Amino acid sequence: MFGLNNVWDVIIVGSGIAGLYTALNVDENSRTLVITKSDIKESNSYNAQGGIAAAIGEDDGPDIHFRDTIVAGDGLCNPEAVKILVYNAPSIVEELIRLGVEFDRDKSGKLELGREGAHSKRRVLHSRGDSTGKAIMEVLIRHILEREIPVRDQTMVLELIIDDHICKGVLVWDKKREMIYPLYSKAVILATGGMGQVYPFTTNPSVACGDGLVVAYNAGAELCDMEFVQFHPTVLRHPSAPSLLITESIRGEGGILRNIYGERFVPKYHEMGELAPRDVVSRIITEEMERTNSDYVYLDITHLSKEFILSHFPMIYNECLKYGIDITKDYIPVAPGAHYMMGGIRTNLKGETCIKGLYACGECAGTGIHGANRMASNSLLEGLVFGKIIAQEVSSYVLNNGDISILDIEAIEKKVCKEGSLKEFRVKMQNLMWRYCGIRREEKGLKILLEELEKMQQDVKNMPVNNFQDVETKNMLLLSRLIAESALERKESRGAHFRIDYPYRDDIYWQKHIIKKKG
Ligand code: SIN
Repeated sequence: MFGLNNVWDVIIVGSGIAGLYTALNVDENSRTLVITKSDIKESNSYNAQGGIAAAIGEDDGPDIHFRDTIVAGDGLCNPEAVKILVYNAPSIVEELIRLGVEFDRDKSGKLELGREGAHSKRRVLHSRGDSTGKAIMEVLIRHILEREIPVRDQTMVLELIIDDHICKGVLVWDKKREMIYPLYSKAVILATGGMGQVYPFTTNPSVACGDGLVVAYNAGAELCDMEFVQFHPTVLRHPSAPSLLITESIRGEGGILRNIYGERFVPKYHEMGELAPRDVVSRIITEEMERTNSDYVYLDITHLSKEFILSHFPMIYNECLKYGIDITKDYIPVAPGAHYMMGGIRTNLKGETCIKGLYACGECAGTGIHGANRMASNSLLEGLVFGKIIAQEVSSYVLNNGDISILDIEAIEKKVCKEGSLKEFRVKMQNLMWRYCGIRREEKGLKILLEELEKMQQDVKNMPVNNFQDVETKNMLLLSRLIAESALERKESRGAHFRIDYPYRDDIYWQKHIIKKKG
């Protein structure tokens, strides 16, 4: 068929840290293909500023990292998954160093450990300050290229190929070849990352649309904990700048939040001040913005030395400077934005979903590690620790599962039109999600939202998709509905899910997970 190799042992969808680290750990004799919707460098992982949490400090230990993660997760973490995460963290850091990642060190050569919200110890490793994601991903990409693991970019997954409840490959739209065609494999690993684009304000890149969750859901996999969306308190809010995360490490190093009158306000609301949990700080900022009738507050690090700022936050310094903000002298205008999806495709501790041959890894997976609220810098770690476990699991699955089944699915020519037809639906959905299913939620608004989303889904149902953005928009309308339904169902406040009409945590009725399955 058109000269393309379309039969593989393992197909990995997504080129963030979970996808690439899994690819590097799959048995070398397996024929592995990575596919990615955009460019290999386009991912949340590549942009990550936060680092990797690992309990390697003298006063720290995995048991303390475990306890902090469980507390942040607000009663919904899977303790077994958390144990795997925290106990494997120190060895994963060593492996990264062996691969060539240069973590930041102090003057004596010791690994430097940063502090972030909800961590009771300094335990966050960075590389090149706030460019940690880029520094790690460059090393992983180098190894992918050296090992000649094929990566097919500009290729979007439209459906999973399921036969007799077993996943046997993926149907893709390949932009370069202008074709929709099947790729067959013994196993598929979804590592498609987050879905921040469901909201108008987000730290996520434009590719983060939750495509993996949609194809898994449509194929019969379970999604869990969809109501738990984490909002990051500090995203650059400037009329001409794109949404840029302003890392929590800045507050970890003493950054102060001020209202538009220059007054510090967080300690008035919470005893932990700027280092209170993210969801709490996001709500406090929202209230302060309303009180002062402003759509931003300020983050102030002008009291830190220029040398410290330039060595720890060089990327933020340079990016802000492009918009006339010199962070060594000026306050940074910030507001909350969608950041991370705690829920995802439900998996067991080996990354297996309820569909044989289908695995999920990283942000798109619902392993239960993060519970109702993820602790900072646990997510790159999750992609690495579980990427390795899943790679080992899949390697033996592939060995023990004979031939690849080829179903008779025809390839069709499909050009990408420049203009998407569904753009206005996307913008409307994002604004409605922000208004009714954002940082604060309540029954009345959620019901309005669900009605609107259902109408929009009906409207777009038979509309043609002209480009990847149109597919994403249809996908995100479905995901928004699942988030809103789960948020309506959970009649309590817990972790990142805050209900104005049910402001307290209710362990009697709600210490449980909401699971969504098609039909
Ligand atoms: C941050 O640097 O603030 C984000 C880190 C994370 O979310 O893990």
